[in-house]
Amino acid sequence: MQIVGIPGSLRAGSFNLALLRAAAELAPDGVTVYVASIRGIPLYDGDLEQKDGIPAAVAALKDRVAAAGGLLIASPEYNGSVPGVLKNTVDWMTRPPSDSSRVFGGLPVALTGATPGGTGTRLAQTAWLSVLRNLGTRPWFGKNLFVGGASTLFDEQMRLTDEPMRERVAAWIEGFARFVAQSSPRG
Ligand code: FNR
Repeated sequence: MQIVGIPGSLRAGSFNLALLRAAAELAPDGVTVYVASIRGIPLYDGDLEQKDGIPAAVAALKDRVAAAGGLLIASPEYNGSVPGVLKNTVDWMTRPPSDSSRVFGGLPVALTGATPGGTGTRLAQTAWLSVLRNLGTRPWFGKNLFVGGASTLFDEQMRLTDEPMRERVAAWIEGFARFVAQSSPRG
């Protein structure tokens, strides 16, 4: 089973990127998590789209998600909501509209997010729900994964070292993989 993870941050030292890497490491046998990147994606601009079409980085990410059984979104919380860079990526991925259901239609999606703050990106994850509904995805509500206090959970190489959190991440990805298996084929 192939699952794609999209981190909503451009930082090399991103907690959200590191969280997805931990999910990839802790995924059960037979489940591969490909950790994607949102680097190289321009700001959405209808004039650019008309002139040059869909940017190569966006087209590749769309194909990757379309071919996957499920999607993990690890989103930072900015000012109590979603970060613009990730929303911009998702917006591009819905272009052209005629191709959006190939990518997102019936797609099992699990949300998570990491922050040094205490509330674990609850507001960002809630804000994502209306977007996921709009895209026609199939959000998974089986387990929450709110990662607060992130600066105490990872080592200098951004490896998740906190044992209780490793267990939570393992249970989360295992539960989502079961949901993906039950949901396929997408419909
Ligand atoms: C933040 N941060 C933040 N954290 C949080 O828990 N709630 C919030 O509303 C905000 N708001 C916010 C706005 C802006 C503009 C920035 C730059 C940051 C802090 C944020 O969680 C922190 O920078 C994380 O490290 C971002 O995620 P990555 O880059 O580590 O994945």
